[in-house]
Amino acid sequence: MSTSFQNIKGTFDILPDAYTDDGGTRVAASAEWRHVEATVRDVMRRHNFEEIRTPVLEPTELVARGVGESTDIVQKEMFAFERSDTQYVLRPEITAPVVRSFLQHHLDQRGGVQKLFYIGPCFRAEQPQKGRYRQFHQFGIEVLGADQPRADAETIAVLMAVCEALGLSDLRLRLNTLGTPERREEYVAALQDYLAPHADELSETSRRRLEQNPLRILDTKVEHEQALLRDAPTLIDFVSDESLAHYDEVKRLLGDLGVEYDEDPHLVRGLDYYTETTFELEHPGLGAQSALAGGGRYDRLAEVLGSDDPVPAVGFAAGMERLFLALDAAEADRPGADTPDVFIAALGDEAEAWCFRTAQELRAGGLHVAHDLMGRSLKAQMKEANRQNAPYAMIIGGNELEAGAATVKEMESGEQEDVPFDDLVEYLTSPAESA
Ligand code: HAM
Repeated sequence: MSTSFQNIKGTFDILPDAYTDDGGTRVAASAEWRHVEATVRDVMRRHNFEEIRTPVLEPTELVARGVGESTDIVQKEMFAFERSDTQYVLRPEITAPVVRSFLQHHLDQRGGVQKLFYIGPCFRAEQPQKGRYRQFHQFGIEVLGADQPRADAETIAVLMAVCEALGLSDLRLRLNTLGTPERREEYVAALQDYLAPHADELSETSRRRLEQNPLRILDTKVEHEQALLRDAPTLIDFVSDESLAHYDEVKRLLGDLGVEYDEDPHLVRGLDYYTETTFELEHPGLGAQSALAGGGRYDRLAEVLGSDDPVPAVGFAAGMERLFLALDAAEADRPGADTPDVFIAALGDEAEAWCFRTAQELRAGGLHVAHDLMGRSLKAQMKEANRQNAPYAMIIGGNELEAGAATVKEMESGEQEDVPFDDLVEYLTSPAESA
């Protein structure tokens, strides 16, 4: 079978079985996605986070203002369009949408700190490559209304707890502080002064950034630019005592929790809303797109989005596709496909009618039941039971109907047993005891 249609470049299908895509990347099976999502949900529950779901479509202006006009995301990666005078964007991230929702629905009035988590798709028109997609999936948290270093440390601890629950090790946490926007402006001016005489030596990207977003130059992977930056002024020298005290306390708390980190004064993030603490989590199995997750504090975002009151906040988001790459590299355990508890094979019209009814009854009793919808031969049905890895096949023909008992075959040993219809649910849920 075939079609001339293909999924859009930079997107992918999640199928019942894992497969390798055109770029040679393994795409995990839907059962693996469910397992990762269930693990995330369990860690969130244990850390007392509540779920929030916001639309995939948001007003373009929210992203432009929230993420920042000069960022790569807003400059060149938004899937944005106009329809009936409204500007829509497919959300490139979920922090600005969560803050919008928090403000719009006055979630502060619920009282206390709002600890929210999300899992969902995001869209960025980037050049697709291994670990970088145009539709990808994030899970993340946002802690809203908490200015204490404890919130920063807990945010990072939640991220580490998800990784641990999934069996990931070999992680590297990079940590930095950006201080307040006011002090950062002073630093940016100093950095521009230092780099301006060297503008000719800079790559085109960095030259553009020198004007629009000089901090991002610190992120450069170009070797001679990295060398040039070694003598550049450092951000930490501009950070206020108050910010430093906050940062020190975050580090102390991480130490308390046994979370290891590397301080990286050149860690700046690709979104404009960050203040104070920032961090990124890396895994060596990821190659060029090494960031598994990133986050930090964004104490001014609510005001940027129109709030009269400040909402100190901190959060992170992790890329699920990158998580799978890291899990593959780490050869971490993943669940196999969900297999039926029993396959019912029927012989003849009367038996088929009985099977159709009985399948529904067994399912109502909680069993995962497979059967044939095509009226095929017994041989074909048994082959299908094998393909689906059902541990038991139940064979029903005229004799079984007459006797009121099913022939139940244990597929691995080939042993067969007659089980009265009334005992089927009990037998199939705990065969050893009821046999
Ligand atoms: P971000 O660093 O832009 O931060 O994205 C977070 C994570 O999403 C990255 O570390 C990466 O794993 C994944 N990711 C980003 N772009 C792609 C892509 N094109 N393909 C595959 N994965 C990707 C944020 O989005 C912030 N909202 C994080 C945050 C939450 N900060 C505070 N709260």
